[in-house]
Amino acid sequence: MEKKLFEVYKDYFRVGAAVGGLFYDEEGAIKKRQRMIEWFSTHPKPEWMTDDFKFPELPKGPFIDSKILANHFNLVVAENDTKMSNMYPKPGEFDFSSADKFIEMAKKNNQDIRWHTLVWHNQSPEWIFKDDDGNQVSKEVLEQRLKDYIFTIGKRYSKDICSVDVVNECISDKTFKLRDGNDRSKWFDILGPDYIDKAFFWAKEAFPNSSLVINDYNLEMIPGKRQGMYELLKGMKERGVPVDTVGLQMHINMEYPPVSEIEKTIELYGSLGLNVIVTEMEISVYHDFKDGKEQFQPRREYTQELMEKQAARYSEIFECFKKEAKAGILKDVILWGITDRFSWKNDFPVRGRTDAPLLFDIEGKAKPAFNALVK
Ligand code: XIL
Repeated sequence: MEKKLFEVYKDYFRVGAAVGGLFYDEEGAIKKRQRMIEWFSTHPKPEWMTDDFKFPELPKGPFIDSKILANHFNLVVAENDTKMSNMYPKPGEFDFSSADKFIEMAKKNNQDIRWHTLVWHNQSPEWIFKDDDGNQVSKEVLEQRLKDYIFTIGKRYSKDICSVDVVNECISDKTFKLRDGNDRSKWFDILGPDYIDKAFFWAKEAFPNSSLVINDYNLEMIPGKRQGMYELLKGMKERGVPVDTVGLQMHINMEYPPVSEIEKTIELYGSLGLNVIVTEMEISVYHDFKDGKEQFQPRREYTQELMEKQAARYSEIFECFKKEAKAGILKDVILWGITDRFSWKNDFPVRGRTDAPLLFDIEGKAKPAFNALVK
């Protein structure tokens, strides 16, 4: 009989997956597609969205992804539905419908649940930063809104949630300091640097039984950013801020970073007495960074050979995870998706270029990477 992925690692860490709304709330997915169409009808369109562009119809289920999810993972996170723009689309109007269904699904599957995410510069509703006249809101008002938001979410969901991304992506890739308005963070611009501490103190009250996570990308890739996050956390610990876990997103690729950098990163945060979790892992087959700058690679064939190489890479990284779990630092490993068919990397960072970064192929068949991990 086929081995279950999470069982193979149960003595080391939980193995999780991010789940798209299509797999537990088709009705909600249709609603959100409509919302997006409306949004683009009143906002500037990106270059690729030509006049004759049509938003693709949503595929119809049932989806094999749901089965794989129930079978192989013991931890879940919503890929989009629990973000602020979806939870709180209009002033005073929460939309709990998709999050409720997500949690219902997880409970049915007997899976632990993470919340992604409370404060983030992306996927926040525009209105939250504005007053009734459309002007930028004051610090006091925004602070109150954020506090209310955290407590509203906590009140409804904290009993079901074991781990919360309190602040997401707050370190700048350019300055390695807190992301500010030059880097699209209205939170920083309006609230100032202490919004992070405050969010954690509120989250501690609102989610008293969850681990509280600060989550970011490229920490294992860019030593300066890694160090910037370290400085931030050191200060937070000294100030008694209740952060207990660092989330490494780990959107990595076949070539970079070497395992030694991943190991170093986990151990660096471990040295502060913090836990580490891997929150959004996938291994892209594209390495779009060369000679110090972004250079997008053309679509390649996903040959057996390439997939075997990917398997070896997953495998050596999971060995490192086992080691760091044994050392008491690493607690969870979550993949950002289930099958390659629905990976967000199919459109990012290059629109229309597919990728093949996960453990199951577009038909839901186990890839060499999956087989290597359950060996
Ligand atoms: C991505 C989702 O996967 C996409 O479906 C969505 O269009 C954009 O967001 N870092 C994060 C995640 O913290 O929330 C992002 O998820 C991927 C990068």
